[in-house]
Amino acid sequence: MAGRVDLDGNPINPMTICMIGAGGFIGSHLCEKLMSETQHTVLAVDVYSDKIKHLLEPTSLPWNGRIQFHRINIKNDSRLEGLIKMADLTVNLAAICTPADYNTRPLDTIYSNFIDALPVVKYCSENGKRLIHFSTCEVYGKTIGAFLPEDSPLRQDPAYFLLSEDASPCIFGPIEKQRWSYACAKQLIERLIYAEGAENGLEFTIVRPFNWIGPRMDFIPGIDGPSEGVPRVLACFSNNLLRHEPLKLVDGGHSQRTFIYIKDAIEAVSLMIENPARANGHIFNVGNPNNEVTVKQLAEMMTQVYSKVSGETPLETPTVDVSSKEFYGEGYDDSDKRIPDMTIINRQLGWNPKTSLWDLLESTLTYQHRTYAEAVKQAMSKTTTN
Ligand SMILES: NC(=O)c1ccc[n+]([C@@H]2O[C@H](COP(=O)([O-])OP(=O)(O)OC[C@H]3O[C@@H](n4cnc5c(N)ncnc54)[C@H](O)[C@@H]3O)[C@@H](O)[C@H]2O)c1
Repeated sequence: MAGRVDLDGNPINPMTICMIGAGGFIGSHLCEKLMSETQHTVLAVDVYSDKIKHLLEPTSLPWNGRIQFHRINIKNDSRLEGLIKMADLTVNLAAICTPADYNTRPLDTIYSNFIDALPVVKYCSENGKRLIHFSTCEVYGKTIGAFLPEDSPLRQDPAYFLLSEDASPCIFGPIEKQRWSYACAKQLIERLIYAEGAENGLEFTIVRPFNWIGPRMDFIPGIDGPSEGVPRVLACFSNNLLRHEPLKLVDGGHSQRTFIYIKDAIEAVSLMIENPARANGHIFNVGNPNNEVTVKQLAEMMTQVYSKVSGETPLETPTVDVSSKEFYGEGYDDSDKRIPDMTIINRQLGWNPKTSLWDLLESTLTYQHRTYAEAVKQAMSKTTTN
C-alpha cells in the first residue's frame, strides 16, 4: 500500500469519500476494495448495511476507523450536506434500479433517480466538492439498428449498434411504455450534472455501468428479500437454479447484453477515484464488449455452470418462455442490444476488463450455491410439509 501512485506517477494522498448507496451491490464491492487496498476513509451512507457488515465489525479489522456507517435516507435527512462537506469526493450510487420496478413503480423510480439525486448534486456544486455519479447504460435506450429491417446488412455495421458516450443518441419508447422512466430520469440527472459542470464548474464524472454482475447482487426472493420480489436477471436465474425450477425467459430471451464481472468494473471506478485529472468532466461506459450473449444464452450458460458447481443434474427442460406482460406487467419495453464503446475509458484511464463470462459465472454461482443452497432447501421443505 505504501508509495501508491496515480497513472501519472504522482503520489496518491488519502482522501475522505462520502459514498451514498454504499450498502448495495456495487457499494459493497467498492468499500471492500477501498478498505483492503487503499488508505482512504469512507463515510458509508445507506438505509441498509447487511452487505457491508463484514467490513464494519469486529473492531479488530485492520481498517477499523476508516469506514463509518451512517443510516440515512437521502430523501429527507439534513445530515447529508454535512457529510458531503466533510468529504473530498462524493460517490452517488443510491437508486431504485431493478427493471421490475420501472413500469410498476414509475413515480418512485423517477423520484429516486432524479429528485433524490438533486440535493447531492447541489451540495457538491455549492461546496466545491467532486462528484462521481452512477448513471446507467440504459440512457442509450434502443440502438439505431433496432429500427432497420431484420435482414438489413447495416445491422452488422458497428455505427448502428455500438454505444458511444459522445456520439450515440438516447432512444426511448413512448411515454406509456413506463419502462423508460428509469432511463429518462437518469438521463435528465446526467444533463443536470453536465450543466453544473459547464455553468458552475462542478468537477464530475458520470459512470454508465453495462450489466455488472457478481456475488451479493440483489437478493434471493423469500430468503434475503421479499418472496414476491423480482430481482435483476442474474438473481432471478440463480433463484430458479437453487429451487431446481426452469429459468423464465422473458419474450424468448432474445435481448443481447454484455456482462462484466463486478471486480473488473470496480477496478475502473477506483482508477476514476484516484485519477481526478483524467476522470473529471467525462462520462464513462464501463462494460465488457467481449462478453456479449442473448439472455437465452446466459440462461443456458448459467444452467451448465450451476450443474458443475453444485453437482446437480440440470432439468430436462431448463428454460420456459413467459411474456413480458405476464412477467413485468403493463408498460414494459426493452433495449435490444448493448455493446459499450470502450475508446474513451481506454484513452483516459488505460482500463480494460479481463474476466470471461464463463469465469465470472463460475465464481458468482459458486458464491450463490455456498451462500443460499441450504436456506433454499429448508424453505422449500417447510412449504411442502405445511
Ligand atoms: N449493477 C449494475 O449493473 C448497474 C447497471 C446500471 C446502473 N447501475 C447504477 O449503479 C448504482 C448502484 O447499483 P447497484 O447495482 O449497487 O444497486 P443496489 O440496489 O444494490 O444499491 C443501491 C443502494 O442504494 C441505496 N439507496 C436507495 N435509495 C436510497 C435513499 N433514498 N437513501 C439512502 N440509500 C438509498 C439502497 O438501499 C441500496 O443499498 C445505481 O445508481 C444504479 O442505477 C448499476
